[in-house]
Order: sequence, then structure tokens, then C-alpha cells
Amino acid sequence: MSDLHRQPGVRSGQTGDTGNRLDPWFDQYAERAQNLRASEIRALFSVVSRPEVVSLAGGMPNLKDLPLDRLADSAAQLIRQHGDVAMQYGNGQGWEPLRERITEVMSYDGIVGADPDDIVVTTGSQQALDLVTEVFVDPNDVVLAESPSYVGALGVFRARQADVVHVDLDQDGLIPEALEATIKKLKGQGRRIKFLYTVPNFHNPAGVTLSESRRPQIVDICMREGILIVEDNPYGLLGFHSDPLPALKSYSPDGVVYLGSFSKMFAPGFRIGWAFAPHAIREKLKLASESAILCPSMMGQMAIGQYLSDFDWYGQVKQFRSMYQERCNAMLTALAEFMPDCTWTTPEGGFYTWVTLPEGLDAKSMLPRAVRGLVAYVSGTAFYYDGRGANHMRLSFCYPTPAQIREGVRRLSVVVNAEKELVDMFGAGFIPEDVAGLQVIPPHPVEDIGPASDAR
Ligand SMILES: Cc1ncc(COP(=O)(O)O)c(C=O)c1O
Repeated sequence: MSDLHRQPGVRSGQTGDTGNRLDPWFDQYAERAQNLRASEIRALFSVVSRPEVVSLAGGMPNLKDLPLDRLADSAAQLIRQHGDVAMQYGNGQGWEPLRERITEVMSYDGIVGADPDDIVVTTGSQQALDLVTEVFVDPNDVVLAESPSYVGALGVFRARQADVVHVDLDQDGLIPEALEATIKKLKGQGRRIKFLYTVPNFHNPAGVTLSESRRPQIVDICMREGILIVEDNPYGLLGFHSDPLPALKSYSPDGVVYLGSFSKMFAPGFRIGWAFAPHAIREKLKLASESAILCPSMMGQMAIGQYLSDFDWYGQVKQFRSMYQERCNAMLTALAEFMPDCTWTTPEGGFYTWVTLPEGLDAKSMLPRAVRGLVAYVSGTAFYYDGRGANHMRLSFCYPTPAQIREGVRRLSVVVNAEKELVDMFGAGFIPEDVAGLQVIPPHPVEDIGPASDAR
């Protein structure tokens, strides 16, 4: 390394010698830091944030219907009246009054009589996922996850050096027979399976829900095989027709760590989620959380506590449900009209549908052409640990308006159809750049195309 490229203050023979031109510390990172990668979705963010792009990529909740003025007054009052507590450090496990309220929220999931002492409040359920992985997973341990699975969970598992093995799902969620067969195979190979990670309600990204009859089957299999279940349920209250089916946790209080979140049923801004765990696991999670963050934000916890007490939070949830249902209908109708060569899942709640492209199409390589055509989605490859998923895409209907969704799907269909023509003509994998470059799509104007969403 020449002096020119050395960091100021790093002398020859010291750390800086092992780096490279861009990063003098390159060779000093822990091995696990090699596993830290920007998700495919975040990498897209800067491009799809352009206002003219219709983003069907993001998982941002639509907060326009929240009573922001009243929430502002409530936050001001909180600081004025209880600022000495709200602005202070709190306890690592989370503010007790909020933990009590969380037990009421979970009763909508069929979890009755939960002990607030078995709850750890976290910085979003994303932190809870990280904590569970930290306390259970050694490098190369197996985590079972649906096929496909939430990209943010895969990021945590990768960062913690887990080996993820996917288990098939269908329109009724995780397939019990596939779970059994996968466990048998892995145990036959002498692998250590640490837990099953599952999103039973309104799956991200698949948009499907685990059927009521499969729930006890999945729990039975895992209990018989001694495998912990991590049940991630941020969308449970956002079913279009009803409250959620009973949580897996309600079938096996000792065998399931349940993760909840206020991000989708209220708003992600305060970054408050929770883990509800068997007591011994709860203790480990609390210790791990204290070591990571000392305590969750008191301001956030108290603001949410106040929201649950002083606002009609369940009425708000109902309003969200019908708003998302209208958007989902707009998407399904547009898919049927514009993309008849594709298939897709029919969500009963949540934010997403999972689209399967005609054979030979590759959603990942098609993405730049779609963005050029002013529409964005997430390639299915983001949701697999092993590079699969190229003929799928996740479309989200949570943030754009119904008119934007319709126009977004129309734009997407132009790209998909052009791509299909090329594949039919030349075979898969042959999309020359100059031909692809011809796909400039005259966008229909749509009212109020807001900023595209960052995506989870
Ligand atoms: C399935 C799933 N789990 C967890 C999270 C993280 O949510 P938060 O950390 O905002 O609670 C998300 C966010 O989109 C998600 O979709």
C-alpha cells in the first residue's frame, strides 16, 4: 500500500497495511461482518424514490389516516406532564404499563392470560428477531424458514452466521409434510436445527395465511422434534375480514416465541415491538437486549401506551383494514386485466401479493428495465437464502393509491410482455441491452404519485 492510500494516523506495519484503497480497515473486520449486505430492497431505494416511479416495492404502511394533530398534542402533553420519565432511561425489559397493554393486544390473536413479565419490549420486532437469533444460533446452525421468507429476517440470520433451510409453502401457508420431510433429512445429516421462523398471517412476501387446520399440525411436529417456533406476527390485525386465526403461541405457550409489533397496526415511527417468550428464554432475551441497547425508548413506549389508552386504536385498525383491502382489490383487478400470463397469490390481509412470472422470465434482471418504465417491485431472489426466486416478484399494495396501483401494474405488464416476447423469440437469458433499452413506456399520468417507499 502506498502512502497515498494510507489513512491519516495509520502507520506502516499497523492495521492500515491490510486494507484496500477504499477501506483501510478492510481485513480487520470480524468474519461475520462479511455477511452484512444491503438488502436488495434497500439498494433500490434511491432509484425508486423518484416521484415519477410507481413503487410496488415497499412495505411502508400508509399513515395518511392517522390523527396526526391529536397525536402531536398527545406527545406534547406526555413531555409536559411526564417528561422526567419519558426522557429518561427505563428498564431493560420495557415499561411495565405498556407490557400490560400488550397482553390485551395479543388477546386478539387468541393469546389469553399472558403474563406481562414474559414480555420484552424491543426496538421494533426486527430487534426481537435479532435477539432470538443471538441467543440461539451458533455459526452453521440451521434455521428453518418458509420458502420464500421475510428479507429482513434472512439478513439477521445471515449476519448471525445461521444456515437457512427453506420449507415450501402454498396458498394455505407452510406445508406440514414438507416441514416433516425437511426436519428428517436435516437430522439424518446430523445438522442442528435451532428454530422454525414463520410468519403465519398475511405472509411477507407470499401474501398467504397458515390455515387453521395446519396450525396445530405445525406445532405438533415442532414439539415432537424439539424445535422451537419463532412466530413473527406484525400483520395479524390487518386481516381484511376478521381478527386473526389463533396464534401458534396459543397452542404451545412453552414452545413458541411470539414476536409482535406496533409498526403496521399503528406506525413504525416509535420503533416499538415485543417478544413474548417462555420465561427462561425471556430472561436471556432481556439480558441480550440490555447489552445491545440498555433499554427501549421510554418516549416511544409511553407514547404508544398513551395511544392505546386514549385513542380508539382498534377503530383505527378497522379503518386500516378497509383501506388496505381496497388497495389489494385494485391490485388483483389490475393483475387480472393486464398480466393474465402471470399467476399470483390472493391475500386475505397484510400488504403483499407474490407473483409468478411466465417461464423463462427473470425478475432480477428485468428490474432495471421496469424502473426505466417507471415502476418498481422486489425480485423474488431477495426472499431466498440460496439465490432462488428469480421467476417471482413481490408486489406491495400498502402505500400507493388504487389509481397508482393500477397504473403501476399496467406499466409492469408492458415490461413483462416485452420480456416474454424476447424470451419466446430468443430463449431465456437472452435480453440484449440495446433491445431492452427500447422499452421506454409512455406513463399514464396518475394523480399524486407520492414518494416511493423504503421497503422491508
Ligand atoms: C414479517 C416482518 N417481520 C418483522 C418486521 C419488522 O418490523 P418492525 O421492526 O418495524 O416491528 C417486518 C417489517 O416489515 C416484517 O414484514
